[in-house]
Amino acid sequence: MPAIIELRDVTKTYKLGDETLNAVDGISLSIQTGDFVAITGASGSGKTTLANIIGGLDRPTGGSVMVDGNDLSKLRDRKLSDYRNQHIGFVFQSFNLQGTQTALENVTLPLVFARVKSKARKQRATECLQAVGLGDRLKHKPSQLSGGQRQRVAIARALAVKPNIIIADEPTGNLDSQHGDEIIKLLRDLNKQGITLIIITHDMNIARQAGRIVQVRDGKVRA
Ligand SMILES: Nc1ncnc2c1ncn2[C@@H]1O[C@H](COP(=O)(O)OP(=O)(O)OP(=O)(O)O)[C@@H](O)[C@H]1O
Ligand SMILES: [Mg+2]
Repeated sequence: MPAIIELRDVTKTYKLGDETLNAVDGISLSIQTGDFVAITGASGSGKTTLANIIGGLDRPTGGSVMVDGNDLSKLRDRKLSDYRNQHIGFVFQSFNLQGTQTALENVTLPLVFARVKSKARKQRATECLQAVGLGDRLKHKPSQLSGGQRQRVAIARALAVKPNIIIADEPTGNLDSQHGDEIIKLLRDLNKQGITLIIITHDMNIARQAGRIVQVRDGKVRA
């Protein structure tokens, strides 16, 4: 079976004045459908840059990124954002929820972008919140939820469009260990249902649960 994610010699270079910085420096990587991969490495090693390139949030300076048979470098901005919206679920350390909107509205948002009709998106968002154990918190705003619950809303939002890949960048970074464990269990359950899972983490207890650990150092994958 072809890899769901195939990076070939990917680089991301930033120019700051006279200096160039290779945040990602020639990474080649294949990830198979249904894999659970942990990406680890020191702060500043290039993990987030790499994850954002895999997820189509950012474009590489060089190299090729094939995801699900699509060459992301060939997609125009609009197509790339459509692609990302429909196929990739992102979960961030800081949750990135809309503070003035309820849990239900937050989860509905990607479905608005995907032009799903109002009734269907309410139904789907409700299902997703139920799936993360928040069926009784639909009308709560982020400030009225615990940290673990906020992250579960973010996971429900990532699930809304039925992504085949979830990329979680330090999803437990702002949580205590108990809530962190719950979030990892939830992500692992989704992986068991077939979603390809990439978790960026500093926590070796989390990384060890993955089928594979990719260690990044100075923008390169350590062999
Ligand atoms: N927009 C930018 N312009 C210039 N340099 C950048 C930019 N974004 C990131 N960098 C640099 O690229 C390197 C990699 O950053 P990245 O955010 O990928 O690290 P990281 O491994 O995710 O770190 P952390 O564990 O702290 O989140 C860092 O040295 C950072 O300073
Ligand atoms: Mg980072």
